[in-house]
Amino acid sequence: MQRRITKVLMFNTLFLFLLVSCKNNSGKNKSEPVSKEQISAEISKNLPEKSNEKVHAGKAVFVNHCLTCHQADGSGVPNMHPPLGPGSWVGKDPKELVAIMMKGLSGKIVVNGEEYKNFMPSHAKLSDQEIADVLSYVRCSFGNNFEPVTAELVAKVRSGK
Ligand code: HEC
Repeated sequence: MQRRITKVLMFNTLFLFLLVSCKNNSGKNKSEPVSKEQISAEISKNLPEKSNEKVHAGKAVFVNHCLTCHQADGSGVPNMHPPLGPGSWVGKDPKELVAIMMKGLSGKIVVNGEEYKNFMPSHAKLSDQEIADVLSYVRCSFGNNFEPVTAELVAKVRSGK
């Protein structure tokens, strides 16, 4: 008998709970519809970058081919990978930079007073445009402010003319 009462009680509580939640739902339906503007404002709030902000074409190349060693902010890794910020070789003659992309770099070098004796692989497999884009990107990022590099110059250095 005691069990039956408990069962009935439980059932009633469940019924009441369902009734209340249904009421809540119908209350929601009555509220104002959300406008398109509100939705797009909510979406853009959650986007990492504003859609009207232009992303540099070389950024993707940098992320895929340079970031693992030189880091996202170009600060490098002490004693291993030199930085790419102000005072680095990024401000050198663009022809030299293209040559590094073609042949890679090894042996002792000094960047910002720090010595590096490591190995950077060739990036000659990248297209002229990709190399121009990534060099232009590093030359205007990480605090740098140097002229962009053109695909024509990359082609010229590649052909050795
Ligand atoms: C596998 C790691 C690695 C990758 C990937 C790499 N580098 Fe390097 N980079 C190095 C190392 C190591 C050196 C220094 C070589 C030495 O010690 O002689 C260097 C040197 C340089 C230098 C000259 C020194 C300086 O810091 O100014 C530039 C410019 C440069 N890299 C740009 C790039 C760019 C642009 C990319 C992508 C297209 C890239 N690197 C990809 C490891 C890497």
